[in-house]
This record gives sequence, structure tokens and C-alpha cells, in this order.
Amino acid sequence: MKTLVTYQSKTGFTKKYAEWISEELNSDLKEIKQVSEKDIANYDIVIHGGWIMGGVINGFNKIMKLNPKKLIVFGVGYTPKDKVDIEQLKQANNLGETPFFYYEGGTNPKEMGFMGRTIVKMVTKEEVTFKDNTDKNAIAKLIEAVSE
Ligand SMILES: Cc1cc2nc3c(=O)[nH]c(=O)nc-3n(C[C@H](O)[C@H](O)[C@H](O)COP(=O)(O)O)c2cc1C
Repeated sequence: MKTLVTYQSKTGFTKKYAEWISEELNSDLKEIKQVSEKDIANYDIVIHGGWIMGGVINGFNKIMKLNPKKLIVFGVGYTPKDKVDIEQLKQANNLGETPFFYYEGGTNPKEMGFMGRTIVKMVTKEEVTFKDNTDKNAIAKLIEAVSE
């Protein structure tokens, strides 16, 4: 099975998960902006990870347009995993039957930019500090799903 992991990451947390997954699967890894429909046609499975912004999984629309044969998606946000509404995320992003996994990222004020910091501060009603809640163990279920 030829597998590609694509990702869209602003501050690095989604990239970290994409790297862990591609290492585990021994797959190719590319940033979504570097990928064309022709590239995608070479792969049996594409796994796309996007950081979540206002409930939107970045890059999902693009990857769908590139017609992957089989697609698995993961989204990365700051919402704790026991608080996230997976069904709502799936519906809002029109994921349909696409297998979906949610992972906890973090906040990196230095990389977020002024607008990002301002929006997150408004939404969370807290000062934005550096938090890294990434967890390599979280990818196990996705790896299992791909191996099946
Ligand atoms: C403008 C903005 C909107 C965001 N909206 C959400 C959201 O709706 N849900 C969520 O869980 N996280 C949200 N986040 C948090 C990011 O998804 C989180 O910081 C993520 O780890 C960033 O991933 P990255 O490092 O790959 O860019 C938002 C962050 C920003 C800057």
C-alpha cells in the first residue's frame, strides 16, 4: 500500500502529528500546498491532517478536490479531547464517511501572529501562553485503521 501523509500546520503541532504518523507507517510526507492531483494519483491511501480554525479542518476541501483513492483525516485543535464534539466537526466539515481522528495540539503565541493571538484570547477569555498537549500515543488508532 503506497501511503502519503499531507498536512496543513500554522504553528507546528499538526506537522508534529503528521511526522509521527508518516514515521510509523514509513510513508511519504508532504505539506498540502506542495501536492497536486497528479501526485495524489500515485498513492493508495492519503492521510490528511489539518489544524482546526473556527471549526474548519484546514486543507480538507483541497485534498477532496485532488481525488484521493482512500482518504483518512485528522484534525488538530486546542480543545481538550474529552470536550470536543466529533460529530459536530464531521458534519460542519462535510466529512461524510471519511474516517476522522481528533488530536490535541496546543497554542504557540510566538507563531500564531497578532490576529491569531487576538482571536484565541477573545474565544478562550485567557492570556495566550505556550501549551503543548500533543501526545504520540494518540496516533495508535489511526495506525491500526490504516494497517487493516
Ligand atoms: C484563529 C484561530 C482559531 C482557532 N479555532 C479553533 C477551533 O475552532 N477549535 C479548536 O479546537 N482549536 C482552534 N484553534 C486552535 C488551533 O487549532 C491549535 O492551536 C492547533 O494546535 C494549531 O495547530 P498548528 O500548530 O498545526 O497550526 C484556533 C486557533 C486560531 C489561531
